[in-house]
Amino acid sequence: MTPQLILPYQGKLTPLLVDKEEVIEWEARIKSDSLPSVVLSSREAGDLDMLAIGGFSPLDGFMGNDDWRGVCESMRTSKGYFWPIPITLSATAQEYSSIKVGSCCQLLDKCGSILGVMLVRDKYTADKSFEAQNVFGTDDKEHPGVSNLYNHSELYLGGEVKVFRHSPLKQKFPKVYLTPAETREQFVAKGWSKVVAFQTRNPMHRAHEHLVKIALDRCDGVLIHSLLGNLKEDDIPAEVRIRAIDVLINNYFEPDTVINAGYPLDMRYAGPREALLHALFRQNYGCSHLIVGRDHAGVGNYYDEFAAQRIFDEIDQNALLIKPLKLDWTFWCYKCDAVTSTRTCSHSDNDRLLLSGTELRRLLSAGEEIPPQFSRPEVLNILREFYKKAKNNNI
Ligand code: ADX
Repeated sequence: MTPQLILPYQGKLTPLLVDKEEVIEWEARIKSDSLPSVVLSSREAGDLDMLAIGGFSPLDGFMGNDDWRGVCESMRTSKGYFWPIPITLSATAQEYSSIKVGSCCQLLDKCGSILGVMLVRDKYTADKSFEAQNVFGTDDKEHPGVSNLYNHSELYLGGEVKVFRHSPLKQKFPKVYLTPAETREQFVAKGWSKVVAFQTRNPMHRAHEHLVKIALDRCDGVLIHSLLGNLKEDDIPAEVRIRAIDVLINNYFEPDTVINAGYPLDMRYAGPREALLHALFRQNYGCSHLIVGRDHAGVGNYYDEFAAQRIFDEIDQNALLIKPLKLDWTFWCYKCDAVTSTRTCSHSDNDRLLLSGTELRRLLSAGEEIPPQFSRPEVLNILREFYKKAKNNNI
């Protein structure tokens, strides 16, 4: 019997990538009508790619004013869909004034290549402070997501998009860049129905491995789903993380229990709200559950460690079919002599190996020893090599 996968959010996948013939027609129209253009930022290009592959189903494009306001304020679009983070397109003053509501514009990447077109439905000025407070819970420009928000103009354009091609990430990561339709196909081929997604922006350390293994005890398979887009400067690039995850899987997991895949977004660091978005689009990828651990999608001390778990209890329980798999703070405990968690270990912090991301980066940059209880040696080798190269390049 074919395994039953969870339905996509709102029932069906709606990828916005158009076929080759339509691209040719549009290209002719772009030329003949000299359509005005908008250059997309990295974050916006990532969102466009997610729209292209159906990761953001059922959205049909970038949000207009009503959607933007409703999503910021109450996580609802104007059609009443639950949606936790606005998906928006900003324009420079010149781009904004050249574009009329009801007309079409071309969407360009930073090198001037055409990514697609938008049928402009709305133009509006966004209140950035309102957006930041609602989405990030702070207006502090030291927060990397808030800072990125303020780096975009407050002039927003909304409308339906048609996307001409995949992001270059598809070529860069041919094995891991999978569309929602492709992950769904793979799950069915493997006979999986209860599939847990593991969101990550890190090479996987022992705590991460432990979380995935807890999930594996309770489901058919795990989609290890790495962010492939941009991160803050001191985070580790996707190509290094993907290699590190590959060696971890090959050395420490049963074959055919996990899939190493990635998705094209930039990190927003919006903590609880981003956890909800992570769940929503994992439903589209065919996952029935999402692991939500400690400080999911958080940064610095902006969010309470378990706020991203609590928010799932605060939303309408019918909003999403996918459910969070809430897991406790996990670490190595020297007394337990095992990876354990606040739920299963009674010892004190002094007995625990608690290494912050900042400290880990410092040790790696300095070429100092990392305890093997923190990370597998095969993973550490890849990280050491990366930090060594980065250091040599800086000299
Ligand atoms: S995230 O920004 O993508 O959330 P990261 O890759 O570190 O960052 O975390 C991936 C997932 O593992 C998240 O659900 C996070 O909450 C969880 N996680 C990471 N480290 C721990 C830990 N030590 N204990 C419990 N959960 C953790």
